[in-house]
Amino acid sequence: MSIFTRREFIKLSKGFLTVTGLAVILGPVIAYFYPSSLEETPSDPVLVGPESELPPGESKTVRFGRYPAIVINTSEGLRAYSAVCTHFACIVKWDPELYEIACPCHDGFFNPYNGEVISGPPPTPLEPIKVEVIDGDIFVGGAA
Ligand code: FES
Repeated sequence: MSIFTRREFIKLSKGFLTVTGLAVILGPVIAYFYPSSLEETPSDPVLVGPESELPPGESKTVRFGRYPAIVINTSEGLRAYSAVCTHFACIVKWDPELYEIACPCHDGFFNPYNGEVISGPPPTPLEPIKVEVIDGDIFVGGAA
């Protein structure tokens, strides 16, 4: 004698598979449209590398918690931002010829000095990250 009839077992299995399938499909979709903010970033500063390896006008992208950060050696000094575009979370890149931070997904462009949107669909500026040089090494993040 079994606990379930064959029909009940099939019904329960269908329900379980439906719920599991929805979770598998909807989880990444929700994560895509609502990416985590920088609140999930490391509490300790993250080493970018020696200052001597980031000449003026160049950038470096480093892992910063779950997301990358972009560090740019601008003509006004070092700047660091979350590299996650504020539009649909693509990863932005430094364009040294335009001297702007560019998002390749929908042609969003950001000001390298303050992260403000220059053009394109991003609704808000890039999130700034503290950047400092300690004993010749660049660090991002850490306590303000
Ligand atoms: S995701 Fe960056 S412009 Fe759309």
